[in-house]
Amino acid sequence: MAQIVGGLATSHIPAIGNAIAKGKQAEPYWKPFFDGFPPIHAWLRQVQPEVVVVFYNDHGLNFFLDKLPAFAIGAAAEYHHADEGWGIPTTAPLAGCPELSWHLVEQLTAAEFDLTVCQEMQVDHACTIPFQLFWPDQHPAPVRIVPIHINTVQFPLPPARRVYALGRAVGRAIGRWGDARRVAVMATGGLSHQLEGERAGFINKRFDLQFLQSMETNPEWATQFSDRELVELAGTQGVELLMWLAMRAALTEAGSGVRLVHRNYHIPISNTATGVIALEAVP
Ligand code: DHB
Ligand code: FE
Repeated sequence: MAQIVGGLATSHIPAIGNAIAKGKQAEPYWKPFFDGFPPIHAWLRQVQPEVVVVFYNDHGLNFFLDKLPAFAIGAAAEYHHADEGWGIPTTAPLAGCPELSWHLVEQLTAAEFDLTVCQEMQVDHACTIPFQLFWPDQHPAPVRIVPIHINTVQFPLPPARRVYALGRAVGRAIGRWGDARRVAVMATGGLSHQLEGERAGFINKRFDLQFLQSMETNPEWATQFSDRELVELAGTQGVELLMWLAMRAALTEAGSGVRLVHRNYHIPISNTATGVIALEAVP
C-alpha cells in the first residue's frame, strides 16, 4: 500500500521564479526567504517521495470566472506550464501520475466529493514554483504529481470545513492506493496577502503565526472561519491558506501525528507574507 511520508507547503509568488532564474537567492532581499528551504531539502533527500498530491489554486489559466469549479483534479500524463504574463520563465512540464489520479477520483466520488476531472490541465506559478523551491537542483522535479485545484477566486469559496473534509478524504484514499509508493502531500499559496483594492499590501503577522502554529498542534483551528472572515483576517489572496488546510487534513489520516521538520516565516516578498513548512507523518 502507498504511504504518506509527510506534507509540504510554501508561498508561490511569481517573483520567486525570476529570483531563481537570475540566481538572486543570496541577495539581502531574498536570502531570508530562501534560507527557509535547505533543512527541507535535506529531509526530502531522506524520505524521497515518488508522487506528490499538490493542492493549488488556479489563477485564471484553466478556469476563469465564466466557468470555475470549486474543486478539480488533474488526470493527465503531464502538466504544462503556460506563460501567464508575469514575465517568469516557463518551466519544463511536470510528470503526472494518472493511476493515482483515477484512484483518487473513484475514492473521492464514493466519499461524496464530486471533483471536475481534467484529463488536460495547464499549471500556473502556484503549481510550478513550489517544485523549483523544494527540488532546486532538478528540473523538472524527480516526482510525479496529481494536482488538485481549489477555487479561491470566485465567491462563495468552498468553506474551510469542507476543504478540511476534502483533505481528509484525500489522505484516506492515498492510504488505500495499492501501489507501494511514497507519497507527499503539498500545498501552495498564502500566507496573508492582498493584491488589489483599498487594502492592497495588507499583511496580518499575528494571524499568520497563529495559523502556522495550528499546522503543528491544532490542525482544525482555521475551520472556524467563513470565507469572508478569512478575507478579513488574511486578505483576498490570503485565502490561499485553504490549500494548507487541505494538506494538513490529509496528514491526519496518515498516522498518529506529525513531526515538524522545519518552518520559516518572512515578510514581505512582493506583497505577500511568506511561509514554508515541512511536516513528517509519524506512523
Ligand atoms: C503575488 C502573490 C500571489 O499569491 C500570486 O498568486 C501572485 C502575486 C505577489 O505577492 O506578488
Ligand atoms: Fe497566488
